[in-house]
Amino acid sequence: MTKPDTEQSLDPENWEEMRQLGHAMVDDVIDYLRNIRERPVWSAMPKDAKQQFEQGLPYQPIDANEVYADFMKYILPYNKGNVHPRFWAWVQGTGTPVSVFADMLAAAMNANVTIGEQSAMYVDQQVVNWCREMMEYPETASGMLVSGASMANLTALLVARNTMLEGVRNQGLQHFSGQPVMYCSTESHSCIDKAAEVMGLGKKGLQKIPVRSDYCMDVASLRNQILEDIAAGKLPFAIIGNAGTVNTGAIDPLHELAATAKEFGLWFHVDGAFGALARLVPEYTPVLEAISQSDSVAFDLHKWMYIPYEVGCVLIRDRQMHRMAFSNTPTYLIQHERGLASGLESLNHYGIELSRGFKALKVWMAIRHYGMNALIRQIQKNIQQALYLEQKIKSEPSLQLMAPVTLNIVCFRFVYEGCSDVQLGEINKEIVMKLQEEGIASPSYAILGGKYCIRVAITNHRSKTEDFDLLLTEVLRLGKKTGNLV
Ligand SMILES: Cc1ncc(COP(=O)(O)O)c(C=O)c1O
Repeated sequence: MTKPDTEQSLDPENWEEMRQLGHAMVDDVIDYLRNIRERPVWSAMPKDAKQQFEQGLPYQPIDANEVYADFMKYILPYNKGNVHPRFWAWVQGTGTPVSVFADMLAAAMNANVTIGEQSAMYVDQQVVNWCREMMEYPETASGMLVSGASMANLTALLVARNTMLEGVRNQGLQHFSGQPVMYCSTESHSCIDKAAEVMGLGKKGLQKIPVRSDYCMDVASLRNQILEDIAAGKLPFAIIGNAGTVNTGAIDPLHELAATAKEFGLWFHVDGAFGALARLVPEYTPVLEAISQSDSVAFDLHKWMYIPYEVGCVLIRDRQMHRMAFSNTPTYLIQHERGLASGLESLNHYGIELSRGFKALKVWMAIRHYGMNALIRQIQKNIQQALYLEQKIKSEPSLQLMAPVTLNIVCFRFVYEGCSDVQLGEINKEIVMKLQEEGIASPSYAILGGKYCIRVAITNHRSKTEDFDLLLTEVLRLGKKTGNLV
């Protein structure tokens, strides 16, 4: 007998059937992750799979088992592949099994983690505190978990802007007679360009400073540019250093940048999307030490902490400045002394987003389950693997290392006698596409000095030495085959 409309909900009619489906999903997920090495890294999505996603809005119900069968058939097999041991494209983490289930638990709680006396707020706070410890920020610092480093950088730079350009929240940028300017290197990530635009500074408000031959910012050029801008009546307010550039993993001279920021009274921000976490590895602590002196830092937990997407973190040294940049209390968000609207301070005061998911849980479970020592060992392992790859490339005459290996990124190319840079670019691009199409490995690419390079970025806890050996064997095979056709 069907229930009257007023009694209907979206819960299942038969909870036991839903339980069985859930158990099947758990089994499939475990099998998928356990056997991931046996799968191709990437498989091109066939036409019939793509056609599934052209269908219009369904108004009639489809059995949950059928919907899940479609997931298994058309979605899971055509995953991007960053769960695979030979995925090294862009900078993408591998994920951890325990966090898969944490996401399920978080979804079951369906917590909105902005305001309210609820456990999720305390977990979120603890994870931010742990992030603060990782970066050796003072206890008085504040922070937020956000979707990723793009949002973390934007959040930090908004705090910088609102702090350094007094009155901007009330009066807007038109209040200032000079052009406000931030500084970063030509190797900085494109999210910094986007941040400058979103912040209303425009492209003119972001000065790109040239890099040295090792792709690190040239500090002398930075100083000259700041002096020139001050003389021209502009308003310099922030320096952005890289702790690991996206192309090569270069680490800007952070100590010198911190000193320059101090000299000119500017905000010092670090984009440490992946590299900041390397400061936990003892050999890298000195070169990344200046992060703990910065005014703000952005880094991802979904890259080199291997947590599933999405989760990044922004830390601000001065909690008051952080709060002043965003605080906003409409009547419906006023906190109470007791009851659901009491508890920790609303996170609405510390960022752009109001509704926030419980992304802290997958971090909390992973860090507690593995322990920081094991996670740091994985980061260390990835750096060692990059050095191993570098040595192998250097010892192979048909391969050329294209940039110094500072952290976990290796840029190289296959070289073929008599070929120009343009031809080598075509050959190497073909190698990258073939490696992916044949499901062997997924490196990505970088254009350095106008030259196309194969780029391997290792934030992968599943990669083993044999995976890098296979990569080079296959690059040589495909390179020779392609080179012969040029
Ligand atoms: C140096 C750097 N900054 C920022 C980002 C953007 O991070 P997300 O994709 O998490 O927004 C990346 C991404 O690879 C990066 O490498």
